[in-house]
Amino acid sequence: MHLTSLNQECLLHLFSFLDKDSRQNLSLTCKRLQVVFLDPQLWSLLNFFSPSELARNNFILGPFLRYLNIYWHSSRVKVCNIEDYKKTMFQRDLCSKHASLVSHFLERVCHMCPNLLSLTLSGCGHITDGDVINVLCSCRRLQRLCLENCCRVTDAVLQAVVTHGGRLQEVRLDFCRNVTHTGLQTFREKRPAVRLVAERSAGMIPDTLPGEKLHSRRALQKVLIFS
Ligand SMILES: *[C@@H]1O[C@H](CO)[C@@H](O)[C@H](O)[C@H]1NC(C)=O
Ligand SMILES: *[C@@H]1O[C@H](CO)[C@@H](O)[C@H](O)[C@H]1NC(C)=O
Repeated sequence: MHLTSLNQECLLHLFSFLDKDSRQNLSLTCKRLQVVFLDPQLWSLLNFFSPSELARNNFILGPFLRYLNIYWHSSRVKVCNIEDYKKTMFQRDLCSKHASLVSHFLERVCHMCPNLLSLTLSGCGHITDGDVINVLCSCRRLQRLCLENCCRVTDAVLQAVVTHGGRLQEVRLDFCRNVTHTGLQTFREKRPAVRLVAERSAGMIPDTLPGEKLHSRRALQKVLIFS
């Protein structure tokens, strides 16, 4: 029995175990497997493990997307998390190559994936409040928003969840150092029904402006937090 004599349901099940590259490679072998690759049911969950994966064409983005996770756990994330004015030329250069990848991808998600239920962005140091707010405005069914180690995100995202995230049941903001206690408190008062977890977010020590003198205890604390 040949692989292609299996029915669509079986093939979808088999494809579901494969990574994006393998799915695409198989789809290039014959029309039958291309049909499987193009089946929307195959693409309700997307996991990415680096921003560069977002720019590839080995997956299909569309209204069937429900769960989107972008994780970037790399030593490079530490560079992204440095305030722009503190970056060296080399660090700036490094970031300039990928700085807009996640933002541009989220823009596409806003246009193409109105049925998204869950979004996780981890280590995406370049995304801004605006990027997340656009998703909240476009993907009105979102139930779960999880941001981890996204240093540019501020209380404005929490305010936007109050205004636009009517369906949200769970919000996580872990290691987002530009979120404040006041922002979290206000959110809890306005949307008590939403499960809010914010591990280590408020109270982390932001980078100081150039010229500001850093208290040594604070500096040490920061080194410990980021190491
Ligand atoms: C997919 O095909 C490309 C090009 O032939 C190859 O380099 C790559 O290793 C293949 N990937 C997988 C996961 O099979
Ligand atoms: C955090 O917020 C401060 C004050 O709004 C801003 O100056 C700083 O650039 C923000 N940090 C990052 C990494 O965006």
